[in-house]
Order: sequence, then structure tokens, then C-alpha cells
Amino acid sequence: MAEKIRVLLSEAEVMQKVEEIAAQINRDYEGRELTIIGILKGAVFFTCELAKRITVPVTMDFMSVSSYGSGTESSGKVKIIKDLDLPIEGKDVIIVEDIIDSGFTLSYLKGFLAQRNPNSIRLCTLLNKPERRVKKEVAVDYEGFCIPDQFVVGCGLDYDQKYRNLPYIGVVEF
Ligand code: IMP
Ligand code: MG
Repeated sequence: MAEKIRVLLSEAEVMQKVEEIAAQINRDYEGRELTIIGILKGAVFFTCELAKRITVPVTMDFMSVSSYGSGTESSGKVKIIKDLDLPIEGKDVIIVEDIIDSGFTLSYLKGFLAQRNPNSIRLCTLLNKPERRVKKEVAVDYEGFCIPDQFVVGCGLDYDQKYRNLPYIGVVEF
């Protein structure tokens, strides 16, 4: 393989952040029930680690969307590959993503799911690359780390479907 991976955020740093986000969600949703929607495949690790630490009653569901090819640039187009299994009408929903880059994916998904009349929708992302934002209106409610404009892998994030299983976040050096 031609590329090298440099550690940006260690496994311990990531897990500490997951604890903090879960604690905040537990405070915010006290006395309520929560539906968390993980976006496949990138957010699957983060969604599960988060869910394990949520203490309010929680339902998990997953969607799969495509916005990227095998390269590292967003196409701007979002396609639903797999829809939710469960209805969300009247539910308090948090969409969980691995990373917000251009913002196309979450901006589209929030609008798409809002049409189903949930009681509320919030956005949670492990990583945020604000320098890359095209969809400026995307408001993130829970954010792990703000990172510079670098292509990262690990904790679910891939480069050409590789490296999702790395327990840390690494920068791909091409
Ligand atoms: P957006 O629609 O441009 O915000 O892109 C979001 C999606 O692009 C994420 O869910 C990832 O799948 C992918 N993506 C964006 N940046 C990276 C990166 O640095 N590494 C791996 N995947 C990324
Ligand atoms: Mg993704």
C-alpha cells in the first residue's frame, strides 16, 4: 500500500470524548426516550460506543447513504442506499455521523428525516472539518473533535474501504 497513516487522535482520546458526549446526551435527554440513527458504514463504531454509554431508553436504527466515490472529494449528491427500519414520527432523534466535511450528507439527511415529523432532530458527529464546509447552515449539536482539512481514517472512517477498524484516528499521508 502506498499510503502511510499518522496518528492524529489516540484511542484513549477518542474514547474519552465518547464518554463526554454520552454524558451530555444523558443530561439533555433525561426523562425522555431517544432514537439514535447511525449512518453506515462510517459511523457504526462511534454509534455503538456512544449507545453503550447512553443511560436513557434508546432505540438504534441505521441508514446508508452515498455521497463519496472511492476518492476523497464529495460529489455533492446524496443517495439513500438503505432507509430506516423504524418510523420516527414523534420521536426524539439524534443522527450520528463519523465526520462532517462539506455538510452535504447531514444537510440532506436532516431535511429528509424532518419530513417524517419527529419530535426533534439533533446532529452528532465525532469529527468536524469546518474549513471544508459548503453547506454553512448545518448546525452540529454534539461534536467530538474539530480537525484541520486533512483526510482521516479509523474509528469507522475509510480510505477506499480500508482502515475502518483502526481504533484511533489517523491522517492518510499519500
Ligand atoms: P460530507 O457530505 O461532505 O459532509 O461528507 C460526509 C462523509 O464523507 C462522511 O460521512 C465520510 O463518509 C466522508 N468523509 C469526509 N471526510 C472524510 C475523511 O477525512 N475521511 C474519510 N471519510 C471522509
Ligand atoms: Mg459517512
